[in-house]
Amino acid sequence: MAGKVRSLVWTGDSLRLIDQTKLPAVFEFVECRRWQEVSDAIRTMKVRGAPAIGAAAAYGVVLGAMECRGETSERLIAAVAAVIKELAQTRPTAVNLFWALERMENILKAQEGKPAAAVIEALRLEAEAVAAEDVKACRAIGTNGASLIKNGDGVLTICNAGALATVDYGTALGVIRAAFVQGTKFHVYAAETRPFLQGARLTAWELVEEGIPAILICDNMAGWLMQQGRVQLVIVGADRIAANGDTANKIGTYTFAVLAHHHGIPFYVAAPLSTIDISLDSGREIPIEERAAEEVTHLLGHRIAPEGIGVYNPAFDVTPAHLIAGIITEVGIIEPPYRENLAEALKKR
Ligand code: MRU
Repeated sequence: MAGKVRSLVWTGDSLRLIDQTKLPAVFEFVECRRWQEVSDAIRTMKVRGAPAIGAAAAYGVVLGAMECRGETSERLIAAVAAVIKELAQTRPTAVNLFWALERMENILKAQEGKPAAAVIEALRLEAEAVAAEDVKACRAIGTNGASLIKNGDGVLTICNAGALATVDYGTALGVIRAAFVQGTKFHVYAAETRPFLQGARLTAWELVEEGIPAILICDNMAGWLMQQGRVQLVIVGADRIAANGDTANKIGTYTFAVLAHHHGIPFYVAAPLSTIDISLDSGREIPIEERAAEEVTHLLGHRIAPEGIGVYNPAFDVTPAHLIAGIITEVGIIEPPYRENLAEALKKR
């Protein structure tokens, strides 16, 4: 999959996304010609994963600007500023979304007085840069993390931090891809990731496509596997990393981190620097998205719980920094003390 199919492609007048709600049964694209369609695709998780939604939103801004092609520069800039505000409302946890939108806003602010066509072109170039930098960062994350995986290892991951969750290649799956390409003999345990099943549907699909040996497990099997000595390493992605290293990622990640700590198994986070939110002192400040009850009461459109049952559906949890052995980034593996070392790494961006 990596390098062959990108999660998103700019066609010149639309953003083409792989519809991640349909995989693995159907491989289909969604063609977004209006910014509202990008916004909808992010909300409904047709495109998902922190870096992928950042890049998608950046192209959404370009589409918003293109819709105002005939306007004066002043009106176009005001309209695009409103589009940026709307796109920022789509999902709250992954900071890459706000990071990409802030980049687009900075470009927009620098365009005052320029003709509409020039503003659109400047925004398009920035969106292309956001996407291209993500591909480059993921490749470097893969290279930097690959040697953590040894021959014979069982590597546990959760959710989908693969090519689908980024523009291409992936973060946690980027490390796994790089180790596989280098010839390391290992296998992956992909946790199914209830309720949205990103592990069963998307990570399993990417691993099968690539021929990487992989075993699908239900989330509640992880502890037993570790107790049996089958897991030597845990690698997960991230949606937001606070200044002290606390990391928000898919719900269930924290459980795996506690289990890994208990069993003495190294637990690594793989993420680009764009996922680090130095403005937040700790993970307590990370907003955690709550999603619809139907994701829990239903499985693939089929009701599995009785009407009237209460539901709590947080989409993410926060893993405290002390449970994380290292954060694999495009500038190297960052180890504790995170406050100092993350700040230092960000200077290299
Ligand atoms: O709700 P999702 O599917 O957008 O959540 C995605 C994750 O939690 C990923 O692990 C994270 O975004 C890292 S993607 C490289």
